[in-house]
Amino acid sequence: MSRLTDTLGSPSRPPVRIPGAWPLLGHAGTLLRDPLGLLERVYRLGDVVVLRLGPKPAYLVNASEPFRWVLGGGAPNFDKGFQIDKLRDLIGDGIGTSGGAKHRRQRRLMRPAFDHAHVERYVGIMAQCASQATEEWRGGRTFDAGREMRVLSMSTIIRAVLGVEDRPGAAGDIQTDMDTQREVINALSVVLAGVGRRAILPLKLLDNAPTPGNLRFNRAHGTLHALVSRMVADHRAAHRERGGHGDGNGGLLDTLLAAVDEDGTGMSDQQLHDEVMTVLLAGSETSAGTLAWLLHILSRDLDLQRAVQQEVDTVLGGRAPRAADLNSLPLMRRVVSETLRLYPASWLLGRRTLQEVEIGGVPVPARAQVLLNFYALHRDPQAYPDPDRFDPDRWIDPDPEVLRAYYMPFGMGPHVCIGEGFAWSLIMTTLAVLMSQYTVKAVPGSVVRPVARTTLHPGVVPMTVEPR
Ligand code: HEM
Repeated sequence: MSRLTDTLGSPSRPPVRIPGAWPLLGHAGTLLRDPLGLLERVYRLGDVVVLRLGPKPAYLVNASEPFRWVLGGGAPNFDKGFQIDKLRDLIGDGIGTSGGAKHRRQRRLMRPAFDHAHVERYVGIMAQCASQATEEWRGGRTFDAGREMRVLSMSTIIRAVLGVEDRPGAAGDIQTDMDTQREVINALSVVLAGVGRRAILPLKLLDNAPTPGNLRFNRAHGTLHALVSRMVADHRAAHRERGGHGDGNGGLLDTLLAAVDEDGTGMSDQQLHDEVMTVLLAGSETSAGTLAWLLHILSRDLDLQRAVQQEVDTVLGGRAPRAADLNSLPLMRRVVSETLRLYPASWLLGRRTLQEVEIGGVPVPARAQVLLNFYALHRDPQAYPDPDRFDPDRWIDPDPEVLRAYYMPFGMGPHVCIGEGFAWSLIMTTLAVLMSQYTVKAVPGSVVRPVARTTLHPGVVPMTVEPR
């Protein structure tokens, strides 16, 4: 660990340049073809190393302390970079894309919707969603767990946004909400699939060509914006009917509507729209990927799965999970922690320097791209003996220094995931419902390969599910 802490105060020195750059493309081809292999290979080569992405250098940060500086103390020197510029065009300027004073204000206004009390209220809807979504599994089925978890995560987040309880009234009755949910899922699936490519390769020529894929994306993108605007307008009307008081049904959107800053002002409809888009995008794929990895791991280690099932049975005794139960499932919590270590959804994060800075003693010019190597940091052999092995027992009594320096699945600093508590509840609740009712088994001979794009997910996960 001292290798890392030493680097902050070290004198300026040239960075290690990674060989193997192709003319024009640089390392971009390798980063697309074998991103995880590349990140592991270069991790040991230096605390900060230089890759070339196309004609431009990108500074890849490997060591923990510079890593923490970029995200934490040094954060005012950075914005989120060109990929986020592109994302802003596509989803609007919400908390995930904004910076500076705007970001701080939005973070303040959004915090109540993600506080402990509110997240506890979402656990009921999370359990209900998992139960309803898996009703069709009753007869036993073979399916792609990647896809199932995507749909389940999206529907859970949409229902948490729309509201926890069935509620008649101006904001629409529950049937309207269910219809909205279905429409949003359809549009969001297409947008999520397209947004990653557009953010990684922001080429106008490619995006504007009238290909069937682009036309589908544009249609879904327009539909999603329209649906979210309608959700905001409906909930605003209901809020007015309540005389502008309270947070309605306690759904995320109503809580955001009720939030006001110290000067008494809240969010405009446009800002609410952009925040709902942000939550849908930031929450869906990350949670879905983690759940799919979890099912993949449990489907291949039936002893571990049985132990998780026993724990769930003892705590729940057949009923639906409640918020308080989530603290009584230590084995499941360790399994989730280890999954987030080996497969962090945010495997590589980007930043852009706003001025010339030094990162770990390496001078970095203004407007340079900086990449944070989460994937390899989480597999550092100094912090995790036998780092590629899935071992939930690592988390029985973890070293606080390892947690601080080598475990950041939700990031850190001013942009740390605002949905961390929500994500933990969603993942634990969903898994508790699934494990209490079903056993999952990998389809013999099936091979699951990590897909590292906008998030790190397991792609197609063929699985058989049997009712218990
Ligand atoms: C396993 C699930 C999740 C993981 C691993 C994850 C990870 C992260 C990470 C690493 C960041 C920091 C990004 C950066 O610094 O650039 C982040 C930000 C964010 N996440 Fe999550 N996330 C997850 C689930 C969720 C959920 C469920 C929600 C909402 C319901 C959410 C909402 C957000 C938002 C709004 C931000 C932007 C925060 C800001 O910039 O201030 N995330 N997430």
